[in-house]
Amino acid sequence: MPVTVSTIQKMKEKGEKITMITAYDYTTAKIVDAAGIPLILVGDSLGMVVLGYDSTVPVTIEDMLHHTAAVVRGTKNAMVIGDMPFMTYQANIDDAMYNAARFLQEARCQAVKIEGGVTTAEVTRRLVSAGIPVCGHIGLTPQSINVFGGHKIQGKTPEAARRLLDDAIAFEQAGAFAVVLETVPAPLATLVTKKLSIPTIGIGAGAGCDGQVQVINDVLGSYTDFVPKHAKQYARIADIIAKAVAEYHADVKSGAFPTEAQSFPMDESLLKDLM
Ligand code: KIV
Repeated sequence: MPVTVSTIQKMKEKGEKITMITAYDYTTAKIVDAAGIPLILVGDSLGMVVLGYDSTVPVTIEDMLHHTAAVVRGTKNAMVIGDMPFMTYQANIDDAMYNAARFLQEARCQAVKIEGGVTTAEVTRRLVSAGIPVCGHIGLTPQSINVFGGHKIQGKTPEAARRLLDDAIAFEQAGAFAVVLETVPAPLATLVTKKLSIPTIGIGAGAGCDGQVQVINDVLGSYTDFVPKHAKQYARIADIIAKAVAEYHADVKSGAFPTEAQSFPMDESLLKDLM
């Protein structure tokens, strides 16, 4: 059964943990979907782990639509959420509506994610009332990295914790179906989770959230520039790829690849006129 916003809401109500993971291409989406993961985020982390930028800020809407469409083609059941990139929803509501619609119409995903809270409540309300499900994102919102001055834990003072709670409530009241909490102290994330009726999805926010999201390259150990503290590597794909590619390279150089098994035979007498 395809996952919808009501599937996710029911999971919160039943106390069933919600798994979200990123994917950026067709092949990976197929594997993630077959594993039964209900939420696939085409995150603008694409900018770092796929496109090689040093932040998510340079990612364009065309980058996101291109990759979101590929993920949708690989997905049968999961709900695919497209991450709206920097400055595609902050400048004005008309642009936000037009850009969000492109995610649903051109990339064919089912929802969008936007960062903010109080500042993006109005745009969230307009998107939801136009039929576009919105997942909020609060705490360490990577599109504001230049304002934060780095990857810093959010909500550590009483005032900052209050602001984080206000952002979460603003998303809920505006109609968001879930909120991502990034790099927030675990007790604060647990408190926010108890206060909200919509699911919280944590990343670096402890075990008290309704669900967890991770960047797939961190889970697989394929992105080696750095490993965030909140990530757990379930594999070291980078080492496996390095070994396989080195063996292939050695086989080509030595002539061990290809063999007859990878070649197509032909009756050589058919070539005699060409000789
Ligand atoms: O872009 C992304 O992958 C994200 C997750 C880290 C939540 O926003």
